[in-house]
Amino acid sequence: MKHETVLVLDFGGQYNELIARRVRDLGVYCEVHPYKKALEKIKELCPIGIIFTGGPNSVYEEGAPKVDPAVFHQGLPILGLCYGLQMMSQVLGGEVKSAPTREFGKTPVRYDTESLLFKGMPQEAICWMSHVDYVSRLPEGFTAICHTAATPNPGIQCKEKNLYGVQFHPEVEHTQFGNDILKNFLYEICHAKGDWSMKDYARSTVEALREKIGDGKVLLALSGGVDSSVAAALLDRAVGDKLTCIFVDHGLMRKNEGDEVEAAFAGRGMKFIRVNAEERFLAKLAGVTEPERKRKIIGEEFIRVFEEEAKKIGKVDFLAQGTIYPDVIESGAGDAAVIKSHHNVGGLPDYVDFKEIVEPLRLLFKDEVRRLGLELGLPEQLVWRQPFPGPGLGVRCLGAITRDRLEAVRESDAILRDEFQRAGLNKTVWQYFTIVPEFRSVGVRGGERSFEYPVILRAVNNVDAMTAEVEELAWPVLHRVTDRILREVPGVNRVCYDLSPKPVATIEWE
Ligand code: XMP
Repeated sequence: MKHETVLVLDFGGQYNELIARRVRDLGVYCEVHPYKKALEKIKELCPIGIIFTGGPNSVYEEGAPKVDPAVFHQGLPILGLCYGLQMMSQVLGGEVKSAPTREFGKTPVRYDTESLLFKGMPQEAICWMSHVDYVSRLPEGFTAICHTAATPNPGIQCKEKNLYGVQFHPEVEHTQFGNDILKNFLYEICHAKGDWSMKDYARSTVEALREKIGDGKVLLALSGGVDSSVAAALLDRAVGDKLTCIFVDHGLMRKNEGDEVEAAFAGRGMKFIRVNAEERFLAKLAGVTEPERKRKIIGEEFIRVFEEEAKKIGKVDFLAQGTIYPDVIESGAGDAAVIKSHHNVGGLPDYVDFKEIVEPLRLLFKDEVRRLGLELGLPEQLVWRQPFPGPGLGVRCLGAITRDRLEAVRESDAILRDEFQRAGLNKTVWQYFTIVPEFRSVGVRGGERSFEYPVILRAVNNVDAMTAEVEELAWPVLHRVTDRILREVPGVNRVCYDLSPKPVATIEWE
């Protein structure tokens, strides 16, 4: 079943994924693609409307990103945001200039509520501005539809052609009624019906999987984490006993995790195979220090183990993975920079001995995956489990993995999780774990000099894995965790707390 789709064209702005989230939350499916692919994607997706994102450039700079003007001749409603508005104005014959001062932050705005874009909204509100340029002359056929003290034409429309634009960011929370603007664009201007809901997604994906897999056999890489568990539930519903779940214990799992995963899935009547492959993974990783190399080795070894298991099972046509949307983006899809190759995407080897890879969650953000899990009847406890990366503790035992430091990561992580549970923080903090670097520092223990590793604590809050804020942990919790790690984990003489948000840091250290 095809959903109504809105195409978000990416001009390099920082809020692009947020726009996509907002649109989906408003009940319309949406995808973000690089602006250069506009015409190709219009043809492929048959969108009901297009949103141009913001971006860091000035339209009058040489080589500034611009859509093919043919995009404006497709008869599709368009909403330009910030750079998107300026670019649309310039391409259509208007003029864009640099303002004497940069307008940044909360700005009072007066809306012309006669415009469909601002229908039903109060006339005065606050919007979030972040720009240097402004539209100094409107393209023919356009009128201004809102006003601020400092910026001429902060919102414009050409009603006949369904073209709209605003200088500010309706997608960020600081813009009051920003959601109403997006909602008006979708429902008043694009005439969306709103057919995107988790129930629909579950139903249509189950149907699509059934059709695709037919009489074939599927193997699923089950890690016990949220993504692969939800993928397992979807596939179980779609194809039942054609599905075999394989859980590769790579020796980089958290304390007792392997046994817990086995207990959770083997008991459900699903075909479940556990492969204990610790020795094999650690041998491949021995001496490897470069994070991307480590990720690739783990990803590749995973696939090899699957291939071997698949051969034992017989003809296996499909390999299923719980890849989600942020994994895809950050692995360099579209125009985004490659940040890390997530082991289930960029880490795939060139040659994979399966007919096809199925990734039923590829279009979903993390919180959408959780909603889908609940929709499919998975237990809350499993659905709300904190995310755990495919390469496991391998990217938290920094540099070349050694057994002593791997144990230190595992034991300190167990302590952190235990203390978070006692403090009730496991329900409120999104992700928390420990890291052990390769360097050591001097300490003193029982009057003797020690030269041991530090443990770094990380606790972040986040809704979709694209950005993260550091949790402001209360001192008593930090104190208890530190105290226990220093007493209970061999080879550790120091505990630090990582205060870096994403961006500039990422959540994992490697
Ligand atoms: P970063 O470190 O990129 O992490 O800010 C974002 C989120 O993704 C998790 N993560 C992974 N998940 N395979 C996964 O399935 C991976 O290779 C991987 N690497 C990072 C990370 O724990 C965080 O929640």
